[in-house]
Formats: sequence, structure tokens, C-alpha cells
Amino acid sequence: MTTSATPNTPAHEHGGDHDVHRPATAAPTHAEAEDASHQVDPHAIPDVAIVDVTKRFDDVTAVDAMSLSVASGAFYSFLGPSGCGKTTTLRMIAGFEQPTSGEIYLAGEPVAGVPPYRRNVNTVFQHYALFPHMNVSQNVGYGLRQKKASKADEARRVGEALELVRLSGYEQRRTWELSGGQQQRVALARALVNHPTVLLLDEPLGALDRKLRHEMQIELKQLQREVGITFIYVTHDQEEALTMSDVIVVMRDGRIQQQGHPEDLYERPVNRFVAGFVGTSNFLAAKVVGIDAATGTATAETESGLRMIGRITDPDARLAAGDEVTVAIRPEAPVVEGLEAAAPIAAADGTTRVTGQIKQGTYLGDMIEYQIDTELAGSLVVRRQNVRAAAGPRAFGPGEAVTLTWNDEANLVLGT
Ligand SMILES: Nc1ncnc2c1ncn2[C@@H]1O[C@H](COP(=O)(O)OP(=O)(O)OP(=O)(O)O)[C@@H](O)[C@H]1O
Ligand SMILES: [Mg+2]
Repeated sequence: MTTSATPNTPAHEHGGDHDVHRPATAAPTHAEAEDASHQVDPHAIPDVAIVDVTKRFDDVTAVDAMSLSVASGAFYSFLGPSGCGKTTTLRMIAGFEQPTSGEIYLAGEPVAGVPPYRRNVNTVFQHYALFPHMNVSQNVGYGLRQKKASKADEARRVGEALELVRLSGYEQRRTWELSGGQQQRVALARALVNHPTVLLLDEPLGALDRKLRHEMQIELKQLQREVGITFIYVTHDQEEALTMSDVIVVMRDGRIQQQGHPEDLYERPVNRFVAGFVGTSNFLAAKVVGIDAATGTATAETESGLRMIGRITDPDARLAAGDEVTVAIRPEAPVVEGLEAAAPIAAADGTTRVTGQIKQGTYLGDMIEYQIDTELAGSLVVRRQNVRAAAGPRAFGPGEAVTLTWNDEANLVLGT
């Protein structure tokens, strides 16, 4: 998002009162909000609590016995494939749908039967639906006029909200005179002007092109830090979730699969679905041959006889010898070497090694992706940074014989 495009910007003076940056209740400072997103007070009342909520539409169970606590001031993302219940969950929080069973609490209060306009949440939708007969200021001030705010109050708060989304100077523009990204920022300002405790965003960047999306992602995250409001952001784009979130909630078929910081999900996905949905993985079917409870590791063996020691990522997994598991290996983990490296045949302690043959290399700009046929591990995808340093590793051609070596740490042992 460009910040220089502010034609005719009047020098925007602030009074001492700067309240568009703050939710109406006890307002966290910027620093506190940052803290809140990293170390959540387990005794604090969550902004949103979903307790055993199920939502059925006739014979479709859109949300299935879901429980979730959303910490104040954090950036949450609901991530999952189409139809997994993301929008339905958001609509129940906003009050547009009622749970079939279970309870939703906002700031500790049950909200069953409370209509949307009486909940201190605002929603930004994918199709931002600005009012075409109003200019930018009038669009942003709409909610305030509904609440009978004074003209002076409206002008001040609209000015602050527009500054927040970097659209000062655009007050008089008509909506059709704005780019897609600018329209989306007007929609954001319109939601923020009401000082919601929680802002719900349903794929708000879906209509934008890739580059603008990425810019808006960074802007949105920055904005969230600035205002300290809790964001719940719905997306089926893992990159978007990884870029912005303090907590990603991965959903499938109306159920939460895992929630955690992006790094946790990437490093310790608890099952095959999460490992495949957050980033990409090579999946090897294997059987447990031994468990080391002290280190939380398992030894697993593929049908072709490859033995791997790996981390059991799901703390609730109760694995035993003989169980079928999947071992996931991220494509950046294996180091590929030509045979001239004269690698020893046996893998060093703490590593896994296989030999193979390059099937194909695909140039991806910043990376090369190899498909490598191996005898023991089948076809593996390996990615390598495209380093241009003179001493960097050389590229490999089709048919070349190579070894692949990776740390056992990179073997993620997942229940199937
Ligand atoms: N009003 C409705 N009536 C009947 N079924 C519905 C209704 N709303 C949603 N569903 C169904 O509930 C399930 C979950 O839908 P939902 O819109 O929550 O998915 P989503 O995760 O937001 O998907 P997408 O990424 O495609 O937006 C789907 O099977 C959908 O068809
Ligand atoms: Mg949806």
C-alpha cells in the first residue's frame, strides 16, 4: 500500500484525545497490546469465547463442537479449506447466525439472542460493499450517524479513522474513484470508527491482486498492532495466515485441528492435514518399531526398509510399536549432494540419509525445486535456495545420482 498518495492532505492536527486508536473499554497501550499477543494472561477474560458450539443447516454440520478462547489484543486467523465452517463461525460471533447448541461469550458475557448491532464487534467482508451514493467520509461515518453522534464528533473520528488507514485527503472522493485496495481501506476505516472490541475480517483481501494483497497484509498487521483491537481474520490462504497471525486456528470439517503460533504449526503440526495445509511436506507411510518416551521420539520404518527416528509432534498421541504413522519431511530439510562429495554410506548419528536420482529440477526464481526418485523413500520434493555465491552448491541435472541427508529433527512422526 503506498503511503505517499495523499493529495491535498490537510496538515492533520491531533487533539489530545486520540480515541479511534482505542477500544471503548480499558484501552491497552501499544506496548501492552504487543505483550498481550505474545504472553497471554490465562486468567484474563477472553474477548471471544466459543464453548462447545455446533451449527447445523439441515443435514450439514457446518461447525462441530467447537471450543476456542480468543485472547485480547491478538491477531487470530481461521485457516482452512472451502466449506470448513470459517464464515459460519464468524457470523455466529457477529450475531448473524445463532448456534444450534453451545454458547458464545463476548468479554465474558453470553450473547445468545443479542442482535448484531448490540455486539461490540464489526465485520469487514470480502465484498466490501461501500455505499455508492456516499463519498469516502460519509461511508466511514455511517455507523456514527446511525448512533446519532454529533457532527463534530463524527468529523473528528472519521478523520482519525482515515488517517489510520492512510487515506487522509480522500474524504470527498466518490467510491468509484478509488482503487480496489483503497476501497478495502475505506471499508476498514468504516469498521474501526465504531471502536469495536473485536474486528472480524472475512477474506477481506480476496479481490486484490497478489502484490497489493501482500502489501495490505503487512499494513493490516501493523494497523492491528497500532490499535490493539483483537482481529479474527478468515482466510484459506496459508501464506496470508502465516504473514499476519499471532495465532492460527486450523479448521477442517467444522472442527479445530490445531491452534498455535505460525512457527508452532509449521514446526510441530499435529497431524497430516495440518502438515499438508500449512506449508508443504513429503509424506512417508511407516510403521512404529520403537518409542522413546523420554525424548518424545519414535523410530519408524517404511515398507522398503528405511528407518527414521523422528519427533512425535502431537502431545496427545498415544503411539505404540506396530502403529501405522506418517512421517512428514519439509522440502527444505534434505541437503542434496552429488556423489563427488564422497559422502560416507552410513548416515551420521542424528541424521537420515537416502540415495536417489534427480528426476527434474524446476526453477522457481528464488528457489530450485527438485523431484528426486529414491529407492528407500519414494519420490521426494526438495527445495533449495538459489544462492548465487561463487562457492554456492551447483545445480543438479536430470539423471544425476545424489545423496539426500537431513537431521532426524526434521522427521515429524504423525498419527495417520
Ligand atoms: N445458510 C446456509 N444454509 C445451508 N448451508 C450453509 C449455510 N451457510 C453455510 N452452509 C454450509 O456450511 C458449511 C460451511 O460453510 P462456510 O461458509 O462456513 O465455509 P467457509 O469455511 O467459510 O468456506 P469458504 O472458504 O468457501 O468461504 C458448508 O458446507 C456450507 O455449504
Ligand atoms: Mg467463507
